[in-house]
Amino acid sequence: MTTVIDGKQAAASVIEAVTSAAAGYEKQTGGKVGLAVVIVGNDPASHAYVGSKSKMAKQCGFNSVQHTLPEETTQEELMALVATLNADASIHGVLVQLPLPKHLQSDAVIQAILPEKDVDGLNILNAGKLAVGDLETGLISCTPAGAMLLVRQIHGTDLSGLNALVIGRSNLFGKPMAQLLLAANATVTIGHSRSHDLASLGRNADILVAAVGRAQMVKVDWIKPGATVIDVGINRIPAPEKGEGKSRLVGDVAFDECVAVAGAISPVPGGVGPMTIAMLMANTAIAAYRTAGLTAPKF
Ligand code: GUN
Repeated sequence: MTTVIDGKQAAASVIEAVTSAAAGYEKQTGGKVGLAVVIVGNDPASHAYVGSKSKMAKQCGFNSVQHTLPEETTQEELMALVATLNADASIHGVLVQLPLPKHLQSDAVIQAILPEKDVDGLNILNAGKLAVGDLETGLISCTPAGAMLLVRQIHGTDLSGLNALVIGRSNLFGKPMAQLLLAANATVTIGHSRSHDLASLGRNADILVAAVGRAQMVKVDWIKPGATVIDVGINRIPAPEKGEGKSRLVGDVAFDECVAVAGAISPVPGGVGPMTIAMLMANTAIAAYRTAGLTAPKF
């Protein structure tokens, strides 16, 4: 029987642990864990994500601050806000929602966030720590950290002897995911749009992680029987069966056909998605504990 991985349940247990860590922080320091989320412009999907992040931070008992800036915000204004948040001792995590409007230089903004407040794990110091195998002292990008937690649920912490394929090579997901799998002793391949024959790379993978942003691209003949399939894609496709003009969310994996062959598979929605927000809360709690000189909780 194929295991359909329940990301909602896994996320709920992380959130429970974060909530209790936040209460412990408050008890020991008298202050709250603080998260600032910054959004620029009017992209509806980004607003929906940011709204969920701010709401979840409140639910965890954090001081949750949202800065909503207009589309025409300048680079200088955004950099000034980041500098203010960096200097604010009540804020332990700073997240600038991506993508930013085209006239802004995302990388300069992201790199300006203090590494110890970079709860997205995108600062080169945090990315570099992960690249050299330091999983203890930096902050790890939320979606790969969440996907890895799901992999650990199936395989445990040691992936020795297992082949893993990550499809996608972004800084936000593909590269850190590959490094986490490598740190857990998997034999890792990174596939991408210029790879030849992704299907045959897939058939060799005991763990296949798809983050390509193309609806249902991974087909059943890409899947090794019994493999663990982690779907990081979130794509909206037309769903005329639900009524005219309606749509639905699907992943990068053709779930309905792959579920028959996989050993374990994460669905969309309800797989990796809820884990991203949960790990953002976890990173914020970790950042707060470290700033206070306390031993940070592990999630
Ligand atoms: N946009 C989509 N995913 C993310 C994320 O994990 N972090 C940020 N900052 N922006 C995103």
